[in-house]
Amino acid sequence: MRLFIDTGSVAEVRELAAWGVLSGATTNPSLLAREDGDPGEAIRRICEAVDGPVSAEVVSEDRETMVLQGRALCGLHEHVTVKVPFGAEGLAATARLAAEGIDVNVTLVFSAAQALLAARAGARYVSCFLGRLDDVAVDSEAVLIEIVHALRSEEAAEVLAASIRTPGHVVTAARLGCPVATVPASVLRQMLVHPLTASGIARFEADWASRPELARWLDELTPRPRLAVAAR
Ligand code: E4P
Repeated sequence: MRLFIDTGSVAEVRELAAWGVLSGATTNPSLLAREDGDPGEAIRRICEAVDGPVSAEVVSEDRETMVLQGRALCGLHEHVTVKVPFGAEGLAATARLAAEGIDVNVTLVFSAAQALLAARAGARYVSCFLGRLDDVAVDSEAVLIEIVHALRSEEAAEVLAASIRTPGHVVTAARLGCPVATVPASVLRQMLVHPLTASGIARFEADWASRPELARWLDELTPRPRLAVAAR
């Protein structure tokens, strides 16, 4: 399963991209509204940092404006995927943008019925929101199973697990066969943590420190980084 980062923060994308685990990113109006500065510049920098698809969302309730905004967002960078909210207007805009060869991520999908419509309209990604389903006491795993099954024969559309709140959500998405999950930086950082990893590292370091000659051996084995020669 590919991992996207769900954020509007360039700094977060740069930090997490350095781990080598990211294949793309998603933004949304709420995430971008938390950041200072020009959102277009942020989207461009995020595109450069992840070197993969980056969703940028239209904010309108009519199809004509969605199409115009979608084309404009696409012009920001070749990696931009246009994110369109689900609904009759969103479906119509998706069909138009997809017909122009623009990748569309249909967002705010909460049922298999909606997912089928999004896929038929030409969505490249169908974003199913797990956390927001859990918030209203709907079993998000059961809904995701239905969506994954419903889209099995929709070859062009990929289920994108979104509104991820915990590492458990990420594992559920992978277990159910979602090709992509978009994950906030906070959850990606939680995925690093296991007490046995921390205690294992502490034990290795303590055992190594008990034999200083081994530390010297590794130090001598390891080439020093070459110092930059000052320009003359
Ligand atoms: C997906 O693309 C959305 O940006 C995001 O996952 C929404 O998550 P939230 O429900 O935590 O706001």
